Amino acid sequence: MAEPAGKIGIIGSGLIGQQWAMLFSSGGFEVVMYDKDKNALAAALPKIEKQFSDLSKNNRLRPSPLTAAQQLQRISVTDSLDACVSGCTYIQECVPESLELKEAVMKSLDSVISPSCVVGSSTSTFKPSLFTSKCDKRARMVVAHPVNPPYYLRLVEVVPAPWTDADAVDLCVSLMRQIGQAPVKMSREVDGFSLNRIQYAILNEVWHQVDQGLISPADIDVVMKEGLGPRYALMGPLETIHLNAHGVRDYLQKYSKSILAVSQTLDAPVLMDPESKTASVLQSHLEKEIPLEALGERTAWRNLKLAEMAGAKSADPLYKA
Ligand SMILES: NC(=O)c1ccc[n+]([C@@H]2O[C@H](COP(=O)([O-])OP(=O)(O)OC[C@H]3O[C@@H](n4cnc5c(N)ncnc54)[C@H](O)[C@@H]3O)[C@@H](O)[C@H]2O)c1
Repeated sequence: MAEPAGKIGIIGSGLIGQQWAMLFSSGGFEVVMYDKDKNALAAALPKIEKQFSDLSKNNRLRPSPLTAAQQLQRISVTDSLDACVSGCTYIQECVPESLELKEAVMKSLDSVISPSCVVGSSTSTFKPSLFTSKCDKRARMVVAHPVNPPYYLRLVEVVPAPWTDADAVDLCVSLMRQIGQAPVKMSREVDGFSLNRIQYAILNEVWHQVDQGLISPADIDVVMKEGLGPRYALMGPLETIHLNAHGVRDYLQKYSKSILAVSQTLDAPVLMDPESKTASVLQSHLEKEIPLEALGERTAWRNLKLAEMAGAKSADPLYKA
């Protein structure tokens, strides 16, 4: 077995920490996971072993020069933060989504990491300036936001704070490419990064259409999964409009007036109140379709299908990541 490509530290050994550990080990790195909860830490390796074994059985391991057993061998756990970060070129922070906690964890990393080490935070919602401002090594800290489940979905949003070094961003981006992820680099921080700004725009419109009785909850999911979704899975909204006319300029010549006219009728965002009538309509529809006790089984099915799609795309020479 070849020498490890380097050492990666993972802070927080929950759902996302485990997936990052699997991704970095598949890329040939040595991975050390740290968690302040000893029970969580003890459970992490058996959970990873089970995931590797299921993926292996279904022939769904990520492409790697290493076997599943070799990848597992590259992952270890420690209850010492110093031992975790010592010798790391990169650290992925994966503690729960609390601003106070992220700030405290970054501060504790600040005093133990080497000056060249880069720390990427998995945060889904916090701009990096909100939790790195008090760190001496804040120029080495960035957001590296994965999409759940990262083992099957390759997007990573890399988001700098105003003080993040350009070379720290570049190191994070190139590391993500090295492990087979699809990083996108934002030029500056913004609430929601890119993905959630788009996702929330969609959710707002979905809410209004159901709330106003324009369409049923069942049909709104059909609009996405049988209409927009499959095209976007292959080529995104921009290549889609490029193909929907004779190039993007022709598309805009033909449709930009209608796009503006429709867009001007869109309703402003409202609080999607969980106690509202619309929320009850959505809950009863979805519970009828997928009872709460079947969510685990449905998630496993979704993950398997995502892996199949990822496999089909990467095997296609015409697919552009
Ligand atoms: N779950 C998702 O769908 C998803 C997707 C993308 C990003 N994220 C982000 O990833 C991060 C982790 O989410 P998760 O779902 O893995 O959470 P999780 O609750 O499954 O795991 C968090 C782990 O961090 C540990 N922890 C808590 N405080 C700690 C500390 N001070 N030091 C070290 N470890 C500590 C906990 O013991 C736990 O094992 C969050 O910021 C979340 O927003 C989650």
